[in-house]
Amino acid sequence: MTTKIGIAGVGAIGSTVARALIEGIDGFELECASEINQPDEFDIPYVDFASLAERSDLIIECLPSNAVPTLTSEAFSRDKDIIIITSAALLIHPSILEQHKSSASRIIVPSGALAGLDGVSALMHSGIKSATIISTKLPTGFLGAPFVSDHNIDLECVTEKTRLFKGNALEAAQGFPANVNVAATLSLAGIGPERTEVEIWADPNAMGNKHEIIVEGKLSTIRASVDNLPDPANPKTSILAAQSIIAVLKGMSSPLVVL
Ligand SMILES: NC(=O)c1ccc[n+]([C@@H]2O[C@H](COP(=O)([O-])OP(=O)(O)OC[C@H]3O[C@@H](n4cnc5c(N)ncnc54)[C@H](O)[C@@H]3O)[C@@H](O)[C@H]2O)c1
Repeated sequence: MTTKIGIAGVGAIGSTVARALIEGIDGFELECASEINQPDEFDIPYVDFASLAERSDLIIECLPSNAVPTLTSEAFSRDKDIIIITSAALLIHPSILEQHKSSASRIIVPSGALAGLDGVSALMHSGIKSATIISTKLPTGFLGAPFVSDHNIDLECVTEKTRLFKGNALEAAQGFPANVNVAATLSLAGIGPERTEVEIWADPNAMGNKHEIIVEGKLSTIRASVDNLPDPANPKTSILAAQSIIAVLKGMSSPLVVL
């Protein structure tokens, strides 16, 4: 049986996933998409969120955070499964997880721009003492972040590597909604947003986006570090994020799965 996919948001990530589906992923077929700036590249029906949820067996969310609650509402009311790449939305909009409680939909959060979540999930079984994520990007990567404007930070004046923020994942998601999906994802895989510590650094010499996680359990400590070059289609995004969605789809249909 073929699973019909609907992609919500055909920007940098959604386009990469759409291309992979059109090239072919066993067991999946791109049925439709929702997009306010529809690219000419794909010959697919563009529909609203309600029709997308109605026509799809599995929805792939690739939207800005503020558009996610409307989409999840349409998905949950129809008990449709959804892959959510904008994991920060689950922290910024608590109504999403509240509404999810009365739905049979599964939410799947891919690893995105991070690595090491397999170990974090395994460590949860014996208990995690602390979880920290340190994210470093070019100063321009934080343009438009509410924390930056609230604290009158002039990103053009950042001439050396500077820590902009230290706090928990919930505070980070509110202050940097477009930058901290990785922190949100780590918190969801591990000990939750209040206990997951986040540091955000601006580095004018950064080559791309770097994310390091340090997760301490009773008997194991996980350190994972990823250096991502920005996606040419959206410098705020790492191309690994789109590839992690493709990996989820391949994992769902493969007879041999390594988690
Ligand atoms: N989990 C991770 O590690 C990770 C990594 C990178 C990016 N992200 C997140 O993934 C999401 C997508 O990233 P991107 O780089 O593809 O962004 P993008 O800006 O390139 O694409 C988003 C698309 O959504 C469309 N859109 C906006 N509102 C819409 C609406 N109401 N209906 C239909 N379409 C709408 C926009 O026109 C745009 O084409 C972002 O929220 C980003 O923060 C997550």
